Amino acid sequence: MSKNLSELSGREGLENNLFDRMGKLAEPDGTPSVEELDALAEEFLIGSSTTYGTTTFYDFLKPENKGKKAYVCNGTACVCAGTQDNVTEQLKKHLSEDEIGHMTCLGRCHENSAFNYGGRNYSGSALNELDSIIESKSGVQDNYNVQVAGKEILTEEFTSIDAYYASFKSALKKNSGDMLEEIKTSNVRGRGGAGFPMGLKLGFCRNTESDTKFIICNADEGDPGAYSDRYLLEQRPHSVLYGMLIAGYVTHANWGVLYIRAEYPDAAEIIQKEIDALREVGLIGDNIDGSGFNFDFKIIRAQGSYICGEETALINSIEGQRPEVRVRPPYPAQQGLFNKPTIVNNVETLASLHFIIENGGSAWKAIGTERSSGTKLVCLDSFFNKPGIYEVEMGTSLSTVINELGGGFKTSIKAMQIGGPLGGLVPISKIDDLTIDFESFTNNGFLLGHASIICIPETMPMIDFLEHLFDFAAYESCGKCFPCRLGTKRGHELLKKANTSDYKISKKLFKDLLNTLEEGSLCAHGGGIPLPVKNAMHYFEDEMKGYFE
Ligand SMILES: Cc1cc2nc3c(=O)[nH]c(=O)nc-3n(C[C@H](O)[C@H](O)[C@H](O)COP(=O)(O)O)c2cc1C
Ligand code: SF4
Repeated sequence: MSKNLSELSGREGLENNLFDRMGKLAEPDGTPSVEELDALAEEFLIGSSTTYGTTTFYDFLKPENKGKKAYVCNGTACVCAGTQDNVTEQLKKHLSEDEIGHMTCLGRCHENSAFNYGGRNYSGSALNELDSIIESKSGVQDNYNVQVAGKEILTEEFTSIDAYYASFKSALKKNSGDMLEEIKTSNVRGRGGAGFPMGLKLGFCRNTESDTKFIICNADEGDPGAYSDRYLLEQRPHSVLYGMLIAGYVTHANWGVLYIRAEYPDAAEIIQKEIDALREVGLIGDNIDGSGFNFDFKIIRAQGSYICGEETALINSIEGQRPEVRVRPPYPAQQGLFNKPTIVNNVETLASLHFIIENGGSAWKAIGTERSSGTKLVCLDSFFNKPGIYEVEMGTSLSTVINELGGGFKTSIKAMQIGGPLGGLVPISKIDDLTIDFESFTNNGFLLGHASIICIPETMPMIDFLEHLFDFAAYESCGKCFPCRLGTKRGHELLKKANTSDYKISKKLFKDLLNTLEEGSLCAHGGGIPLPVKNAMHYFEDEMKGYFE
């Protein structure tokens, strides 16, 4: 059935996109009316259950969103910093409780106290200017350190479209297969979490016959603690657009879709402006620079759901279906958006292509370690003396990142969650054992993921952290498979009960729960949550044992 829905949604192409239309219907008062959803269903020849089922899934489309004016960030970094109760209290002086909702996360992890008002994001000391913010709704650009240790690639200053796209124009004169070989030689691996080799994925898509193919930029950066994709989209937008153009050229795709999260309103505006600039100089559209290659972009604004960062849920989302994870195979590179071959790549992965095309694959391969090549952006939260984004060569020691680049911790820290909610929980004692690369983290029982670092202060009980983690996992579960749908909820209930009463959790039951999640879940959401929990049980056994039988 969902395959048919993909076809029906695809009939209208990207220009008249079903999900886009749902978002527009929600703009006036936060949720589309049932009558509007019925009319949309009729227009797209689908059942009302689909339009209704889809909109009720998303934080910013569902009826509960009606009338919301402000959203308080409840991402892990803000929770660990303990700033958000005050944010809610301050907002309540201006707004009723019903007008305040939640957003996870605004990517302001470097200074916290994050909130969204009237479609704009604020953080840090902005809370002191609430009166004028509510009056003028002006956005306040945040500042954070951006520094490089080693080769400067992703953070390199942008000069002009002419200079930046010169290598794209010469690539168009070369064989697209040769360009793909450069990407394969670089061995650039996906930065969105799984570390899959980009060249291989592009090759699968290139070899699948189809008159229509898509390149999707996964700009749904939902991992609390990570704001490096936001940085690239807002401060280095051409690195992303360039990467998508090259990916399109080597796979014979003609459409690039940027799926940008609603929590990053500035990013979507900036990217649209730069797309328009490229159109003006003829670098997008038909027959680019006389090469015969056609390519255009479409921005899809997400509507508040962590699971839409998972590539198949993301595809369902763009199609206007309920964003449940798809069973693989078929993989998106063979059958993705509207059942057509589709590449889904992370923002940072795409941003690496400018250097690779300009300098050759072996130049990228020469940086970093044997299996983790190139540079990586690492995000540090507000517990560091110098919070911000640091570009480091793969293989850089974690202690260099923490102590030299980040300037050490501001206060006593007991652990760090690195790589998002599905990443590991690294105790302070392991800092000297780790380097920033996929292998080091995996070999030590952690996960590099997107390499964002959130600190857990000494003062925060580990059980509070785990309760928050399970709550997040349960709320964001897509609900498709029951180990995750039920397991994340049960995990949260058990920890909450043990945290707030004399109840002691059965060790056996808890172990079974983690194993069921790990082995029975359809995707890495349910499958990944046990990792940080197991790390916490292992490294903080003394602190945790009082909550177990
Ligand atoms: C629960 C979940 C959330 C994810 N969120 C993101 C995300 O926000 N951004 C992202 O690029 N990849 C995310 N991924 C990984 C994507 O499914 C996919 O692997 C990635 O976009 C592929 O791009 P890459 O090869 O460039 O990393 C997520 C995966 C899971 C299981
Ligand atoms: S593991 Fe969770 S998020 Fe993934 S498919 Fe199953 S229910 Fe959905």
